[in-house]
Amino acid sequence: SLDDFFHDETFFGDYTFKNSPRAIKRFPFPFPEDDYMYSVNMEPHVPGRPGSVFEHTFDVDEHYVAEMRDRARVLRDDPLRCQSLPHMTLAGWDLLELIMESFARDYPQWFSLTKNGNQWHWINRPLNIDQKFTFLDESTLPCGPMEYITRQAQGDFTLQDQRNDNLWIEAGMVTTQADWSLDFDIGMSFHEWHAPVPKAHEMGVFDRALKFLLQLQHGAPVRRFNWTMTVDPLLDTSPENYPKWGPGKTTLTKENIGQRQHLRVELQTLFRLPRSNAIAFPIRCYLCSFEDLVTQPKWARRLHRVVRDLPDELATYKGFIRNRPLMVDYLSQFDDGAPTSPGW
Ligand code: HEM
Repeated sequence: SLDDFFHDETFFGDYTFKNSPRAIKRFPFPFPEDDYMYSVNMEPHVPGRPGSVFEHTFDVDEHYVAEMRDRARVLRDDPLRCQSLPHMTLAGWDLLELIMESFARDYPQWFSLTKNGNQWHWINRPLNIDQKFTFLDESTLPCGPMEYITRQAQGDFTLQDQRNDNLWIEAGMVTTQADWSLDFDIGMSFHEWHAPVPKAHEMGVFDRALKFLLQLQHGAPVRRFNWTMTVDPLLDTSPENYPKWGPGKTTLTKENIGQRQHLRVELQTLFRLPRSNAIAFPIRCYLCSFEDLVTQPKWARRLHRVVRDLPDELATYKGFIRNRPLMVDYLSQFDDGAPTSPGW
């Protein structure tokens, strides 16, 4: 029912965001081992265990309505968070089709899509939207197709054109990002937009990842995890707003760290799109406070070891080198030294 959603939670200011016990249990803990290093960690994006974040192509969870409100707020303040170069409109339609079909198939209680040729009828009950439009005719929607559908889907989205054996980030909706800017990156190629990442270039990670992606087939999406750390459950950790959220990192203490420090996990998926041959890259962000994470003893042990042993370059890049001693101190209380087993 529509009561499945939190309606009033916030991801800034008074931070009323919280995870229900069910959301904590299904949190996508990203570490299969006690240590972490970059790798080409991609696997087929096939349906996972019922109840897990992989059950469906796109995960719609209890934060849906509130996250969409947060996106609208960020866009009001900064419209450049959503950009699409003119040649990317067709990829936007591909993405709209992918999301509408997936949502209507996987969550028929909330979404429906009816097609009569190119005359489509979309109903989004949680957001109270009822839209008739002509597929591939932009004039029949209130905004471009990518903007239209990504205002109704959790997570950030970028669209990459493929040409000259490279991928070019040329459209996106980016309001829940881990400290990078679409406005800065738009038009860049795969290695260019990854330039700030330490170690991975030398390890050949980006060469191999790009080679793999250039061959990605329609109907065979893949997924990977990325992760970082965020103080307070803030979705919009953008460089543009760094002056608003960066200083908060200096106010973490032994007393408040459990509540305020969050592990930020991105479930990233990659889809070849059928008409444009572009690649869609949804980046779905999940936040979980340390206090909630340590309710699962195996996560607590492992997180302690990962954070403690992470190379300095990665802790610096991810923005938590300063707070690492506090984090390790807090987490060590929950690590009894027991061996852990591989996997989640
Ligand atoms: C980081 C975009 C695919 C691995 C990043 C960043 C961006 C980005 C914008 C942040 C860079 C910065 O600091 O400014 C994308 C896009 C992709 C894509 C648009 C879609 C084609 C991949 C793939 C891999 C990968 C397939 C597989 C290995 C990484 C890694 C980082 C990163 C390891 C550093 C993350 C961290 O430590 O927090 N990516 N990426 N990316 N990306 Fe990608």
